[in-house]
Amino acid sequence: MKRILLLGGSGILGSEVLSQLQLGNMDYVAPQSSDLDVRNRKMLEDFVLRFKPNWIINCTAWTNVDGAEESFDSALDLNERAVRNIAEVAKQIGSKVIHISTDYVFDGTSPEPYDELAPVAPLNNYGESKLRGELQLLKHMQEASYIIRTSWLYGISGKNFVKTIATKAAKNESVRVVDDQRGSPTSARDLARAITAIINTTPEPGIFNYSNKGSCSWFELACTIYKAVGSNPELVEAISSSSLVQKAKRPRYSLLSKEKWELTGITEIPEWKISLESLLPEIIAQIQKSETR
Ligand SMILES: NC(=O)c1ccc[n+]([C@@H]2O[C@H](COP(=O)([O-])OP(=O)(O)OC[C@H]3O[C@@H](n4cnc5c(N)ncnc54)[C@H](OP(=O)(O)O)[C@@H]3O)[C@@H](O)[C@H]2O)c1
Repeated sequence: MKRILLLGGSGILGSEVLSQLQLGNMDYVAPQSSDLDVRNRKMLEDFVLRFKPNWIINCTAWTNVDGAEESFDSALDLNERAVRNIAEVAKQIGSKVIHISTDYVFDGTSPEPYDELAPVAPLNNYGESKLRGELQLLKHMQEASYIIRTSWLYGISGKNFVKTIATKAAKNESVRVVDDQRGSPTSARDLARAITAIINTTPEPGIFNYSNKGSCSWFELACTIYKAVGSNPELVEAISSSSLVQKAKRPRYSLLSKEKWELTGITEIPEWKISLESLLPEIIAQIQKSETR
C-alpha cells in the first residue's frame, strides 16, 4: 500500500498534486505549513514517524527569486536546510522522496537544451539555494530520491506569470514583457500527473527534467495568453531584460531536454500551447472568482 506525505499542498504545484492524489484515491496526508513547518526538524520527524509514508512529495520552497537576493538565509532555510531535514527523516523510515527543482540551476549560456548531466552554475541566490537542496538529497539518500527540474510553472493557485498576464488581458490592459529569455512553460497539472506517474511506475531514482514540450519567450507566452483570452496581442510590448530593474539575474535560455523522461517512458509530455489552452479557462474562472470576493 502506498502512503504519501505531500508537503506544500497549497502552492501552485502542490494544489494540483493534491487533486491528483484525491482523484487517484490514494492514501495520503497533506498538512498545511501551519501544522507542519518543514524547517522544524523535530516537528517533521514526529509527523513522519507517526504517519510512516513510503513516499514524500516535497512541493515546498522559497520561490521569491528577487527576494532571495536580500534574504538568502531565509531561502536556504527552506530550499536547503529543510530539504536536508526531509532527506534525513525519509532515510530513517526508508521512504522515497520526490523533490522539485528548477531550470535556474543553469546559467542559460548553453546553445542547446540542458540535459540532467549538464554543468550547473546558478546565476542567482534562488538557483543556488535550490541547487544546494538537490545536493542534500543526493548526499543523504541518492538511492531513493527523484529530483524533478522544471521551469516557468503556472497553474490555478498562487501567483504566477500566466495568471498575472491573463488578468491584464481580460481587462484589455497593456503590458511590457521581456523577449530575450527563452524557456518552456510548464502546466502544474501536467507536472502533478507526471509526479503521480512516478509513484505508480517507480522508475530508477535520479534527476529528471520535466517541462512542457516546445519553447517560447515570455513575450510570446504573453501574446498567446492575450489571443486565447480574446484580447489584442498588440497590447503586449516586447522589451529587453536590461530595461527591467530586477534584483536577481535570470538565465536567457533555460530549455530542459526531456529525452531521459521520454526514454524512461513515464508519461507523454504535452505541448505547452495545448496545455496552456486547456488550463486557461479554469485560471480565468479563478481570477473572476477572486475578483468578486
Ligand atoms: N514557480 C515557478 O515558476 C517554478 C519554476 C521552477 C521550479 N519551481 C519549483 O517548483 C516547486 C513548487 O513551486 P510552487 O511555485 O508551486 O511554489 P509555491 O506556490 O510558492 O508554494 C510553496 C509551498 O510551500 C509551502 N511552504 C512554504 N514555507 C513552508 C514551511 N516552512 N513549511 C511547510 N510548507 C511551507 C507553502 O505553504 P503556505 O502557502 O502555507 O506558506 C506552499 O504550499 C518548488 O520547488 C519550486 O522551487 C517553481
